[in-house]
Amino acid sequence: TSSAVPVAPLATLAANAPVLSKEVTVLFGSQTGKAQGLAKKMSKKLEEQGFQVTLSSMADFKPNNLKKIQNLLVLVSTHGEGDPPDNAISFHEFLHSKRAPKLEDLRFSVLSLGDTSYELFCQTGKDFDKRLEELGGKRLAPRVDCDVDFDEPAAEWMSSVLGALSEASAVSNVGSGAGAAVESGTESEYSRTNPFQAEVLENLNLNGRGSDRETRHIEISLEGSNLQYEPGDCLGIYPENHPRLVDELIEAMGWKSEELVTINKNGEKRTLREALLRNYEITVLTKPLLEQAAKLNASNGLQELLVAGREQDLKSYLSGRDLLDLVQDYSFKGVSAGEFVAILRKMPARLYSIASSSKAFPDEVHVTVRTVRYEARGRERYGVCSVQLAERIKSGETLPVYIQNNPNFKLPENPETPIIMIGPGTGVAPFRAFLGEREETGAEGKSWLFYGDQHFSTDFLYQIEWQKWLKDGVLTRMDVAFSRDTDQKVYVQHRMLEKSAELYKWLQEGASVYVCGDEKKMAHDVHATLATIIEQEGGFSSEEAAEYLTRMQQQKRYQRDVY
Ligand code: 2AM
Repeated sequence: TSSAVPVAPLATLAANAPVLSKEVTVLFGSQTGKAQGLAKKMSKKLEEQGFQVTLSSMADFKPNNLKKIQNLLVLVSTHGEGDPPDNAISFHEFLHSKRAPKLEDLRFSVLSLGDTSYELFCQTGKDFDKRLEELGGKRLAPRVDCDVDFDEPAAEWMSSVLGALSEASAVSNVGSGAGAAVESGTESEYSRTNPFQAEVLENLNLNGRGSDRETRHIEISLEGSNLQYEPGDCLGIYPENHPRLVDELIEAMGWKSEELVTINKNGEKRTLREALLRNYEITVLTKPLLEQAAKLNASNGLQELLVAGREQDLKSYLSGRDLLDLVQDYSFKGVSAGEFVAILRKMPARLYSIASSSKAFPDEVHVTVRTVRYEARGRERYGVCSVQLAERIKSGETLPVYIQNNPNFKLPENPETPIIMIGPGTGVAPFRAFLGEREETGAEGKSWLFYGDQHFSTDFLYQIEWQKWLKDGVLTRMDVAFSRDTDQKVYVQHRMLEKSAELYKWLQEGASVYVCGDEKKMAHDVHATLATIIEQEGGFSSEEAAEYLTRMQQQKRYQRDVY
């Protein structure tokens, strides 16, 4: 989906701008590493074409240099309620402030990553695109907003930007010159677009009998894949939809399970049942999907939900409903299976923070997955991947997986740097990887873990491992908050506050802080608590405390992996 914003035709642009620079600045704002990966790829392509590229995280970029830039590419994702990723926050703020300079000499283009199931789809990318224009910049190529399946639109954006830049700068194509770095020989052939079929070695429930929760510890073999990861990286898993939901959907529509449907542009076919199990997302409704669905049957009443003025109704309809709800609520009589699947989103992979150190478990990767089950509108609903892992994947079976590197959640380079880890619930997963790594490498730095869940007796994930690490000194301190063992709820941030003097001392000693887990509530409250601790213990104003945290973020001493 390209933006509808009018763009100066290239010819005019080239004519008006005789000497254009061969220098291109590529800035990314990335939480899980996807935008960063694309920025790197784009930079490489540019270098191959003879451009001089400055590639940088927005957090590392000095905004005062903006005025000197002629060609700027922005690759940025959007999170939660239309928020920028952590490493884009300061730059986003700066650009929207009065301090932002006029940018009449700037040529730019924006690639935004997002998810159409969120109301403020690609908002951060839209913000940058609009603001850079307001400041006087000219678009090299229209902004492209990508849904979860971003490969194709991202590739199209790259080639239109490359085309525009080459034309405007009249750079001769130097072919595969010095810029074309040779990939290192150990790189795996497996990736998001070509996942590895990995064998499941173990699949255990970590919660005790009587717990409200079920959390799976899953050990997966990477043997023979050449896939490599570091603590902080994520594992992508392509799940299968629940067979019951697929069968109910096929029945509700009166289709045949065995009929063949086309699943991609190459015309590859498979049975409808297989396709709905593996290739398509059927558990999430999005606005673009409903718009397409409304065209399939012009008289089903869906059009009325999509008219201007009914945005709130649409939003509440989309929330928590799946494709079975849609076909039960609106008639798709006469619509063929082929037509229907053609409007569905491809099944996206689920990302899980890796819970193992590959130094401790060579050729293996472990993940910690909470099973999501709930009831809504008279039907049991399932988390697609978590319930598949809990109910239908036994050891010995295989799963399509890949590694998603996350450069924004990494142990400090210096093994002596103290680390403070805050990870309630499954948010503790990457810290098992961190400590495993620090144990294997004999890192000397102090470490402090804040952990919490509902009940001590049934929900203390990996309890024995933390206790062993405490005993061996790999873990220096641990504070726990079991929220439902006492009359009053206690959360990790309450424990942090109780230890605020000590915690602030660690910060002053240069500790890095890591937060993993729930974004909306936990990470938000923990952030506020960190600010309070800095304010109180350091004797700062609230603005100064906020700056302290921003500085920590810029120095990569405050990193978050939140979802
Ligand atoms: P609760 O379910 O009793 O509310 C892991 O999910 C742990 O995080 C649980 O103990 C959960 O408590 C707790 N939790 C819920 N909301 C939180 C918040 N805003 N901040 C910190 N922890 C929270």
